[in-house]
Amino acid sequence: MGPAMDFAGKRVIITGASTGIGEELAVSLARKGARLTLAARSREPLKEVAARCVGAGGEALIVPTDVTDPNACGALVAESAERYGAVDALVCNAGLSMWARFEDVQDLGVFERIMQVNYLGAVYCTHYALPHLRKSRGLLVAVSSLTGITGVPTRTAYAASKHAVQGFFDSLRIELQGTGVDVLVISPGFVATGIRDRALGADGRPIGKSPRREDRGTMSLDECVREMVRAMEARQRELVMTRPARIGRFLKLVTPGLVDRFAARAVQGNSGSED
Ligand SMILES: NC(=O)c1ccc[n+]([C@@H]2O[C@H](COP(=O)([O-])OP(=O)(O)OC[C@H]3O[C@@H](n4cnc5c(N)ncnc54)[C@H](OP(=O)(O)O)[C@@H]3O)[C@@H](O)[C@H]2O)c1
Repeated sequence: MGPAMDFAGKRVIITGASTGIGEELAVSLARKGARLTLAARSREPLKEVAARCVGAGGEALIVPTDVTDPNACGALVAESAERYGAVDALVCNAGLSMWARFEDVQDLGVFERIMQVNYLGAVYCTHYALPHLRKSRGLLVAVSSLTGITGVPTRTAYAASKHAVQGFFDSLRIELQGTGVDVLVISPGFVATGIRDRALGADGRPIGKSPRREDRGTMSLDECVREMVRAMEARQRELVMTRPARIGRFLKLVTPGLVDRFAARAVQGNSGSED
C-alpha cells in the first residue's frame, strides 16, 4: 500500500460515470480538485455530469465509450492521457445487473452481456491504463459487489461476473507487487441508484422497475461514495461495505448455509433490488 493519495490535481478515469455511483464519485473527486475523464455509452448524461464536476471545482473530459469494445477502451485511455499527460487512477465502475432465477432465463445472451460489461470491460480498460498507472505509481479501483464474495439468488450471471472481477484483480494485485500500483476492490451492498431499472430480466430486456428506495438494508449514494473516496485516499486493498457483510465473510467459513439464507432473505427483504 503506497502513501495516502490526495486527489487534488489527480487524473482519474471513471467508467459508468453517467449516473449512479460513478456520477457521484466523479463529483466528490471533483470537489477535491481532481481532473476527471468520464466514460459511459451515452453522451448527453455525461455532459451533465461534466458540468457538475466543473461546478464542484474539478476538470472533466467526456469520452463516450462502450467498455465491451476493447478498441474503445484503448481510445478512452489514450484520449485521457493525451489531455492530462498522465493517468493516476482508473475506476472500473461500469456495470449491468440482472433479476431472474436461472431456470426462468430464456435469453442466454444475458450471461454473455453481463460478463462483457462487468468483467471484460474492466479487463480491457485495465489493460490499456496499466502502462500509465505504472509510470504514475497509481491506483486501480474495481467496483465489484457483495455478490463477488458470495452467491445471491436471481443474480447468477451478475454474481459470476463479480466473482470474475474479484479473481482478476486479486491476481493482478500480486503481479503488481513492487511496482507502486495499488489495487482496490470495492464491494458495495444495496445502494440507492437506478441500477434496477436497467437490470436484465429473464427475456434479456431491462426490467424497468422504479429506482431502489433508500430503506432498510439499502445504503444512500452519498454514504457509499464517502466510503469509496476514503478507501481510495488510503489506497486500501479492499472495501467491503456494511458491517453485516463483513461479519458474513467470516461466518461463511464456518457456517456457509447460514450465509446462503441471509443472502436469500436480503434479496426478498429488499423487494427485488440488486446487488
Ligand atoms: N447500486 C447497487 O446496489 C450496487 C451494488 C453493488 C455494486 N454495484 C456496482 O456499482 C457499479 C455502478 O452501479 P450503479 O448502481 O451506479 O449502476 P447504474 O446507476 O445502472 O449505472 C451504471 C453505469 O454504467 C454505465 N454502463 C453500462 N453499460 C456500459 C457499457 N457497455 N459501457 C460503458 N458504460 C456502461 C451506464 O451508462 P450507459 O448506460 O450510458 O453506458 C452507467 O453510467 C456497477 O459495477 C454495479 O455492479 C452497484
